[in-house]
Parts: sequence; C-alpha cells; structure tokens
Amino acid sequence: MRSDNSQLTHVGIIMDGNGRWARSRGLPRIDGHKAAEKSIHEAVEYCGEIGVEYLTLFAFSTENWKRPKAEVSFIMFLLSRFIKNNIDNLDNKDVKIRATGRLDDLPAKPRADLDAAITRTESNQGLNLILALSYGGRAEIVDAVKRIADDIKAGSKSMMDISEKSISSRMYLPDVPDPDLIIRTSGEKRFSNFLLWESAYSELYFTNTLWPDFRRKHLQEAFADYGSRRRRFGDIGGN
Ligand code: FPP
Repeated sequence: MRSDNSQLTHVGIIMDGNGRWARSRGLPRIDGHKAAEKSIHEAVEYCGEIGVEYLTLFAFSTENWKRPKAEVSFIMFLLSRFIKNNIDNLDNKDVKIRATGRLDDLPAKPRADLDAAITRTESNQGLNLILALSYGGRAEIVDAVKRIADDIKAGSKSMMDISEKSISSRMYLPDVPDPDLIIRTSGEKRFSNFLLWESAYSELYFTNTLWPDFRRKHLQEAFADYGSRRRRFGDIGGN
C-alpha cells in the first residue's frame, strides 16, 4: 500500500547492462544498445499510462565520451533513430520531450534532431520524457556554481544569496521536481554521477535485470516496492 507521501511524480532510470546483454548472446555491444529501444518504449508507455509526470532516462554520461569512438558514434546514431522512429507516436501520446546535460557537446545531427523533437512537443501536456545526454551530476553542479559566480561578479547577487534554493534554480531543468524513485538495472549499485544534487531524498531501487530485458512487469515490481516504503525526508515519519 502506498503511504501518503510516496506519490510517484518523477522516476529516473539508469539504463545499465546493454553491453552484458549483448555479450551473453555472443553479439557486439552495440546490439545491446539497439535492443534498449524496446525497453525505453515500454517504460515511456507505462509511465504515461499510470500518470508519472517526469521520466528521466540516463542515456549518455559525461564519462561515456571515453568509450571507443565507434560505440559513441553508434549511440549518437541511435539517438537520432530513436527520435525518427518514435516522434509521431510520442507526440500523439502527448509526451513532451526534453533533455538535460551538456547538450552543446552533442554532434550536430543528433543535436538538431533532438532540438526539433523538443520544439515539436513543447506544448504537450503528458509525460515529460527527459533524456540525460552528455549528463553528469558533478558537471551540472559545476555549471550551476559558475552561473552563480557570474551573477555575483555582475553584482546582481551577493554571497548572502547563495542557498540550496538558489543553487537548485540554476540546475539544468529547475522546474522539474526531484526524482521520487531512481531505478538502476543490471545489478550494479552505484549512481555513476546521475542527478547527484536532485537525488538527495530519492528512493533507490536496484534490479539484476539487464536494461534490454526490462519490461512493463519489471517497472510494476519497482513501483510496487516503492509504494510500500515510507518516505521520511529526514523526519521521524510519525513513528
Ligand atoms: C549502459 O549499458 C548504457 C549506456 C551507457 C548507453 C545507453 C544507450 C541507450 C539506452 C541507447 C541509446 C538510446 C537513446 C535514446 C540515446 P552499458 O553499455 O554500460 O552496459 P554494460 O555495463 O553491460 O557494459
């Protein structure tokens, strides 16, 4: 049963295990990334159906640029292909596509495709599908701090104005509420630089299922587990 303070407004997913999924089938790693599209599709559909408002998918981290060039290029190609294959359906389902991260690092073609998808869906009212691309939690905090330093240098803010609220307001997507639940697939139990600032009070769910095998029923299991928790946000939770 869900306690009163455990609404599910924002879900974040660290989509891990694509490489292992491919290796276990004797396939090249990129086939694991290719197979990830179906899992993304199911997660978007299901979250939209049950009224989750924000779904953030960790698609490419600031550290992922260190991967072999061919793999990076393929993931960038997949981003464009994902948008091309799904944009009509997502738009019909009222999904609003957004992105977070150092988007200026993206190559021109996927960046243009992403921008076009964001513009096309910007007035949609359904699920916010947030793609974390060239995203790093530390990089996001660094960028926020730089913006505050700029304001102080320009004289529009002083040291006294630095607060949790002022830092939050300079994150990449300040209107998005902090994630209620963060799911990581593939058995790894790390954050890997995902939403570091925003996850201060997120509930965590780890599953051994590899991302390409992750289906609606796995999300249902994660959400049921989350629903049984009592969130306390540092309080004593009425006990
Ligand atoms: C983690 O698995 C996955 C990634 C770093 C890339 C995620 C990419 C996709 C889900 C496909 C692209 C889709 C879009 C929308 C951009 P891993 O490769 O680290 O797997 P491993 O830990 O088993 O090696």
